[in-house]
Amino acid sequence: FAGSVTGRVDAGQPGPVIAPELYGQFMEQLGTGIDGGIWVGPDSDIPNTRGYRNDVLAALKELKVPVLRWPGGCYADIYDWRTGIGPRAKRPVTLNRWWGNKEEHNAFGTHEFFEFAELVGAKTFLNVNVGTGTPREAAQWVEYITSPTNSTLAQERRRNGREQPWKIDFLGIGNEPNGCGGRMRAETFADLFRQYSGFIAPHGGTTMIASGPDATDPAWTRTTMEIAGEHLDAFSMHYYTLPTGDWTTKGPATGFGEPEWRATFERTYMIEPMIQEQTAIMDEFDPEAEKALVIGEWGTWYDPTPGSPGGWLQQQNSIRDGLVAAVNLNIFHRNAKRLRAAGIAQMVNVLQAMLLTDGAKMVRTPTYHAFRMYRPFQGATSLPLALRSPDYGSLKAVDGTAARGSDGKLYVALVNLDPGEAMDVSLALEGAQATRVSGELLTADGLDAHNTFDAPETVRPVAFDGARLADGTLSARLPAKSLVVLTLE
Ligand code: AHR
Repeated sequence: FAGSVTGRVDAGQPGPVIAPELYGQFMEQLGTGIDGGIWVGPDSDIPNTRGYRNDVLAALKELKVPVLRWPGGCYADIYDWRTGIGPRAKRPVTLNRWWGNKEEHNAFGTHEFFEFAELVGAKTFLNVNVGTGTPREAAQWVEYITSPTNSTLAQERRRNGREQPWKIDFLGIGNEPNGCGGRMRAETFADLFRQYSGFIAPHGGTTMIASGPDATDPAWTRTTMEIAGEHLDAFSMHYYTLPTGDWTTKGPATGFGEPEWRATFERTYMIEPMIQEQTAIMDEFDPEAEKALVIGEWGTWYDPTPGSPGGWLQQQNSIRDGLVAAVNLNIFHRNAKRLRAAGIAQMVNVLQAMLLTDGAKMVRTPTYHAFRMYRPFQGATSLPLALRSPDYGSLKAVDGTAARGSDGKLYVALVNLDPGEAMDVSLALEGAQATRVSGELLTADGLDAHNTFDAPETVRPVAFDGARLADGTLSARLPAKSLVVLTLE
């Protein structure tokens, strides 16, 4: 037995372009997110390129990561950039007060971040310190990185090995300023944003981003737009999916049942009205949508892996996470007019990671596979997709997205959240000529099926031959708990 879903794709009514930066990644100095996960140092036995793991680099290049955000997160507001430049052996050891008081040896600093971004082929999103820093420190850091002049700071960068300036594509001022970023009120932060943005002068065109709080706070957004709106290019919100919605007991990453599965998706969908609420407020001040909304951090946040070090935010990643990623990306596409960048938290070994590492071993997660399958949507033109789907609890069982890729092909992604029932989908294609369909499928047997270092391919995409094209109609049978991405040409 299969449920029945009908709908249509309107290829004649193109919507906004899906900014590639919606597929951005967040990497914080936290646990093994960088140390061990990305950076092993040039002397490591783990194969590396100037200290960056080769396996991680290759996997990320395959993903076409458009932008990387660093150094935090909460860490950004305790980070002193001077601890991360110069000879590595002489760098100070600092304590990471937010994340387990880990000793940070600061081997991965400014040069390492920008060099890593170049190797990955990604744009850069730097977050400056507002919580414990000063405008002078932030301005000097930016001058050190971007100045082509002979200023003392630019010369210091050259002495440290980098002749040419780097580009900062996105500059975050503040991070969750209401909480770990300084316990500020919106008015305080908005004034600080005015002050910081007035002194920071990046060379070469940078999107200046004002940080909002965790989740949605319409009053914060309105205050920021009122007080600092003319000085910002973008406003950033964060939203995490906690299955329980409770920060003390979030729910396990594996070993859960269907109620937790369903609750996870219910909580994931809560981001969409938040985006719409933020968009509506920004529309009041900026009706032409010149300023962007950014989701600086998003993803699942579970109870940490039992036995993992406190504050390292390690968690497994199952087929549930792969589908959560797809649902979020569908939501981002639907709101792509204003929403133009995002960063999943976090890229390696932390929260909803793409990759997990243990010593020399590395494994791709179901979230990685979903991102890899969605690559053609980066820079594609979104197309309206209307679906009539059976319910799954309070949700619709099937969600989807459609776009015209930059290669001219039509792409349709469909997610079936129902873990017990397949869905027969039939879509009328309006304004599109297609004679061939091919696809990829991501699904698994168990609700919490996941990849381990011993069994790294338990959840992986396979070729999908369950789709047909006839008389301008696309039909496909989606297995229970699955993601299918189809290419029509
Ligand atoms: O991603 C982990 C943390 O979540 C970030 O440091 C912070 O910005 C958010 O609260």
